[in-house]
Amino acid sequence: METKILKPTDENIEIAAKIIAEGGLVAFPTETVYGLGADAMNAEAVGRVYEAKGRPSDNPMIVHIARASDIGQLTPMLSSTIVTLIENFWPGPLTLVVKKKPGVPDRTTGGLDTVAVRMPDSEIALKLIELSGCPIAAPSANLSGSPSPTRAEHCIDDLNGRVDCILEGPDCRVGIESTVLDVTGDVPTILRPGIITAESIEAALGKKVEYDKSLFARPEARPSGAPLDAGFSEDFKPKSPGMKYKHYAPKAEMIVVEGMRDNVKKEIERLRVLNEQIGNNVGVLLFEEKAFIEAAHEFFADLRDLDKQGVDLILAGALSDTDGVGFAVMNRMLKSAGYNIVKV
Ligand code: TXA
Ligand code: MG
Repeated sequence: METKILKPTDENIEIAAKIIAEGGLVAFPTETVYGLGADAMNAEAVGRVYEAKGRPSDNPMIVHIARASDIGQLTPMLSSTIVTLIENFWPGPLTLVVKKKPGVPDRTTGGLDTVAVRMPDSEIALKLIELSGCPIAAPSANLSGSPSPTRAEHCIDDLNGRVDCILEGPDCRVGIESTVLDVTGDVPTILRPGIITAESIEAALGKKVEYDKSLFARPEARPSGAPLDAGFSEDFKPKSPGMKYKHYAPKAEMIVVEGMRDNVKKEIERLRVLNEQIGNNVGVLLFEEKAFIEAAHEFFADLRDLDKQGVDLILAGALSDTDGVGFAVMNRMLKSAGYNIVKV
């Protein structure tokens, strides 16, 4: 398939919107990561997204809308919690899991009776959705298993020849995917952490939110060369189906070093020297302490850059996960490393 790679001019966004309306696939920028979009109400088009990404088809997609009121096409009910969250956080990196209307295809929701919805904070994305005339289902625009794409070049690397069009927009401002919040029960529950933290959601709602328990599970490290979904025991069954697959993995081996800052630095240095002595090419990923927003912005792009440099091993310093954004980055970092953790 020939992929149209287009700058996001008004004219080109119109071309891309027409591709979506006709059942095709378009990679486009959002404020979090690039998405690979298809008409959310067209089951066949959504099926093509799974194929292009090589993604397991029980993994539901986030449906993107251009106006908050368009959520009415997807859900039969807005609770006061949902209304408050929309007022406070949309457009923005907060995805709400809500009850779905029967018209939303099972293909889009992985057969669940809920649907994940968000209104992105990106002019290009909003224009594309508006002009397509339909909600756009879009997972991240990477090959399944590889680090999420935060620059247009990442989409080109992964999807050129596999999709109809790539909109070559700016680098993503946030750098990690949206917070996914389940608001179908009594207590809002974070299924995937992001830069919109539990604290800020609690402040807006004036009530407690919970984290899905699976976010704290640390399955055994995946043995080198083992299948991507290995290492997850039977009792590790997260609510957000996407969380059970091996995710975000660089081509290099990766070790996360966790502990007091000074000890982490020393252990990374020790491992670097020893690995270089045996001829390995080593990359180090150590963010400034407490620079959580920067770490979120850089993390996936750094993994891809290190792979391009051909490193064999990435040594990453853990961030403090008592901070909400630190926790969100750590959620990705541990998966990238297949839970290969050294405590010092
Ligand atoms: O920032 C983002 O959210 C990006 C951009 C493109 O908007 N999208 C994204 O999509 O990260 P994806 O498909 O890579 O991740 C969607 C996550 C998965 O963990 C999936 O399991 C979960 O949302 N999800 C989707 N629908 C769900 C539902 N009905 N119930 C529970 N979890 C759901
Ligand atoms: Mg993804």
